[in-house]
Amino acid sequence: MSSVLVLGSANADLVVEVSRRPGGGETVLGGDTAVLPGGKGANTAVAAARVGASVDLLGAVGSDQHGALLRDSLTSSGVGTAFVRTSDRPTGIAYITVTPDGENAIVVAPGANGDVAPSDVDAVPPAGFAVLVCSLEVPVPTVEHAVAWAARHGIRPVLNLSPVAELSAGTLALLDPLIVNEHEAAQLAPTFEALLDLGPRSAVVTLGARGAAVVTPDGLTEVPAPAVTPVDTTGAGDAFAGALAARLAGGDDLVAAAGYAARVAATSVTKAGAQPSYPLAADVLPAEVDR
Ligand code: RIB
Ligand code: NA
Repeated sequence: MSSVLVLGSANADLVVEVSRRPGGGETVLGGDTAVLPGGKGANTAVAAARVGASVDLLGAVGSDQHGALLRDSLTSSGVGTAFVRTSDRPTGIAYITVTPDGENAIVVAPGANGDVAPSDVDAVPPAGFAVLVCSLEVPVPTVEHAVAWAARHGIRPVLNLSPVAELSAGTLALLDPLIVNEHEAAQLAPTFEALLDLGPRSAVVTLGARGAAVVTPDGLTEVPAPAVTPVDTTGAGDAFAGALAARLAGGDDLVAAAGYAARVAATSVTKAGAQPSYPLAADVLPAEVDR
């Protein structure tokens, strides 16, 4: 089977439920807490593997308990960890507050993720990979190196611009697609169609509960998402990117892959956490859900 290589972070998510977020100098009491496997790269890899793709993560964790938690989650979802290096620095940590509406706010301390280097990319044998999917909690030079590496080896480069970073025109021109959310899209271009003026071959704008918009030189196509009651939206964008990559590697066209990814992301927001909420293929909600 053609497979997916994910380049990105692996973090321990330290999650606390809050009724509202504190302002500067203020203390609020939280509710339940949890330590969950997260990080945009590991999340993307787990999402792709759970829906059936053959997946490897390229990244780094520390030799600590959080690293063990991440390796365990990856392995039990079937993600290959041969390219997950153990660094001298601690595993990345994300401090996450979740409010009753399911919204999250996140501060990330990158730790080991900051060590992922272009030489780690060069150490991966490219044979067998159909799609590379990157996110930006690892250093930008490494991501740019990986995108060029993929293009050179006939691997389709997909990039989820999360968190937002400045990329060179040369990198943008290789992306197929560039994935952004609506806020990022608004910062980057006056219309969704104008995202292609930045250079990518295609773009996908995730629209939360409204699904996604796919932009190619042929025009714009909207794909819906099933209507769900959100419990925790943490990692929904990563679930989208992972499922999209899985489907592209499986031979779907971009619109079909985005439609499936919107269903996987919607399914993920119905459960707490990022990786623990990602569905197996059999549990992905249909495009229309009766309520
Ligand atoms: O996108 C969600 C992820 O962002 C969390 O799992 C957290 O680790 C941060 O990387
Ligand atoms: Na979730």
